[in-house]
Amino acid sequence: MMSGMNRIMPALAAALTLGLTLPAADAQAQDIRAGQAIARQNCAPCHAIGRSGRSARPEATPFRLIPRRYPVEALEEAFGEGISGNHLGMPDFQFSPREVDDLLGYLRSLGRR
Ligand code: HEC
Repeated sequence: MMSGMNRIMPALAAALTLGLTLPAADAQAQDIRAGQAIARQNCAPCHAIGRSGRSARPEATPFRLIPRRYPVEALEEAFGEGISGNHLGMPDFQFSPREVDDLLGYLRSLGRR
């Protein structure tokens, strides 16, 4: 758990900085890209975050399947409050509302063809 935290926290800090410095122009496209960056840095160590590929942790749901299972809005609260609980080996992420939007926007984009 601690070694996982040490690995993930710098990436999270980087993602936060990135999210704060992205320009607001072209909100839609930008949000998806910001969300992808957040996912790549925070979630990719376990989840497959793209349109193909297998998760590094087999029990971690590939992100592209999530929007097919339930509306991604269902995750908003969980992301905002920090994902943890039964989430195996996961540090307690705490995302700003803006970052939650970006992340959900990215997940939603995976559900579109
Ligand atoms: C250390 C590994 C790890 C990291 C990092 C990680 N996850 Fe997970 N995640 C898992 C595992 C394992 C599961 C499946 C078991 C569970 O739900 O606890 C899971 C399940 C999930 C689920 C539920 C999927 C379903 O089938 O309903 C969501 C949503 C999710 N993760 C989102 C994220 C997001 C967003 C991030 C990045 C901010 C992230 N996870 C980072 C390991 C991880």
